[in-house]
Amino acid sequence: MTRLRVGCVGTGFIAGQHLRALAGFDDVDVVAVADTVPERAAQAAGRYGARAYGDGLALLDTEELDAVWLCVPPFAHGALEAAAVDRGVPFFVEKPLALNLPIAQEVAVQVAASGLTTAVGYHWRHLQVVQRAAELLARAPAQLITGYWLDKTPGAAWWPQRAYSGSQVIEQTTHIFDLARVLAGEAVSVMAVERAAPDGWGDVPATASALLRFASDAVGSISSARVLGWRHRVALHVVAEGLVVEIGERSLTDHELRVVTADGEEVLRSGDDPIVAEDREFLDVVRGRVPRVRVPYAEALRTHAVACAADRSARDGQPVDPRIEEVR
Ligand SMILES: NC(=O)c1ccc[n+]([C@@H]2O[C@H](COP(=O)([O-])OP(=O)(O)OC[C@H]3O[C@@H](n4cnc5c(N)ncnc54)[C@H](O)[C@@H]3O)[C@@H](O)[C@H]2O)c1
Repeated sequence: MTRLRVGCVGTGFIAGQHLRALAGFDDVDVVAVADTVPERAAQAAGRYGARAYGDGLALLDTEELDAVWLCVPPFAHGALEAAAVDRGVPFFVEKPLALNLPIAQEVAVQVAASGLTTAVGYHWRHLQVVQRAAELLARAPAQLITGYWLDKTPGAAWWPQRAYSGSQVIEQTTHIFDLARVLAGEAVSVMAVERAAPDGWGDVPATASALLRFASDAVGSISSARVLGWRHRVALHVVAEGLVVEIGERSLTDHELRVVTADGEEVLRSGDDPIVAEDREFLDVVRGRVPRVRVPYAEALRTHAVACAADRSARDGQPVDPRIEEVR
């Protein structure tokens, strides 16, 4: 079997998770990594026997790759994806797609025109507990959703600034907006409010809350907070006729599904590693073994549009219709 030559741009927290997964596959060589902080690139390169670059564009210009992982913060998207498209290198990109909607829409147009294989890191989609919840809700459709991302402020220096992270809603709570789309369908209206952070905390709001209406007529709210000293609740709760489904994340690889009916309660823990699963699926599509990934760029763009709608509505005080035109 030929081995796949892959690279990774960004060598921070989430890149570490992907590199660990990639190094565990017996048909993959991590040949190059890049980070704008040279020591980080050198450290990851040393660990995986790869070449180190101080710039992702230089990596893409120099290396012959079968695929590349783009694990950079929200502010760094746009040029890297354009370069991957230009060179015909399939890319896996971490959520959120970008700081805002226009940059992601531009990339989506480039991806669609090129026909390139892409995948996006909405890893909850790879959990058996999410698939089980979707099966249950196919029989009794969602009527009310309540979503939460109640957490501490992440430590990365870029995170508390809207110009670098987008906001908590765009950067973190996007996972909950994505899960709401999976379990309740497309949102047609988003109205949101936010509370500013205190002085010295950056300009990402301290808390925010979005009210949503779905095409199915389901309704719900999704709230974010970054003022705790710990991760309190990262979850989506769904109410259907005679059924409550609650999915929560304790850590990247620890998820729980609670199913409650009049007959009692069942709790399922996911044992699967969704990072390994999403990376393997993407590689299998690159190899031509499976036809498509679960979350290609165009699909992730719809989730990004809902999160960006919540962010914009909170700033403008107006409801936003998050539906976007199909990118062809
Ligand atoms: N799927 C998930 O659950 C999940 C979890 C954590 C992070 N993420 C996402 O991954 C992205 C990165 O998050 P992180 O926690 O790894 O952040 P991080 O700060 O730990 O790492 C980001 C790295 O990218 C580097 N970088 C910045 N700009 C760059 C550029 N232009 N070229 C090359 N390197 C560059 C930084 O120096 C840093 O080392 C974020 O968008 C975040 O939302 C996803």
